[in-house]
Amino acid sequence: MAEREAILPLRLEGVCFDAGGKRLIEDVSFGLRAGKRSVILGPNGAGKSLLLRLCHGLLSPSAGTISWAAPEGAGRAHRQAMVFQRPVLLRRSAAANVAYPLRLRGVPARERGARVEEALARAGLGAKSKQAARSLSGGEQQRLAMARAWVMAPEVLFLDEPTANLDPAATRAIETLIGDVHASGAKIVMTTHDLGQARRLADEILFLHRGRLLERAEAAAFFSKPRTAEASAFLKGDLAW
Ligand SMILES: Nc1ncnc2c1ncn2[C@@H]1O[C@H](COP(=O)(O)OP(=O)(O)OP(=O)(O)O)[C@@H](O)[C@H]1O
Ligand SMILES: [Mg+2]
Repeated sequence: MAEREAILPLRLEGVCFDAGGKRLIEDVSFGLRAGKRSVILGPNGAGKSLLLRLCHGLLSPSAGTISWAAPEGAGRAHRQAMVFQRPVLLRRSAAANVAYPLRLRGVPARERGARVEEALARAGLGAKSKQAARSLSGGEQQRLAMARAWVMAPEVLFLDEPTANLDPAATRAIETLIGDVHASGAKIVMTTHDLGQARRLADEILFLHRGRLLERAEAAAFFSKPRTAEASAFLKGDLAW
């Protein structure tokens, strides 16, 4: 059954991305398999968001190839979700925001209610389902964005700095949710410049600097023995752009 073929691994081969007359992503190659939580780590401006958007298919590479195991059309687009640094929510209730992707995908109305309720409950927003999404606090909006991604039961969840601008408690809530999504079987691919977060969440690190992938390693190995001078400097807080 084509529909059930795994969409992973995802493979990037010699990927470059140019904009504004500059090469912003330079010759990046790697594969992503199911299982591990993969964290793309690097300083501000390293190209983390661009790389994640390329992986998710929101940008097309200027050179190189990006390919999934499953052929296009095998429901592939619905099987990967992305949560953005600043969530874009509809001017409607929290519940309507979570129901929206289900509607787009043609899930019958009678099934939607229960799935929406479950996703909101998992995100700790069960009591806020009728509240206007844009009146939720920043941390609640980010949890709502997680619920909206999770309701589709994606095989891969891309997260771009999902806790930027959140306080420690809200950050912890999102990190717990990311753990829950991972425990439910989804592949996690996320970006962060936050070393503490990378230490808490990463199984493996992809270290990006000035648009280049400088290192890829198991998290424990990366933090104890970085192989490049740039990664060493970044871990010490000394890496200047
Ligand atoms: N459309 C564009 N035109 C020109 N430059 C761009 C464009 N998009 C991104 N850039 C530049 O590419 C670089 C990488 O941007 P990106 O947003 O991927 O960085 P980042 O690693 O996600 O940083 P942050 O940690 O601040 O989110 C930055 O210097 C940015 O200014
Ligand atoms: Mg970014």
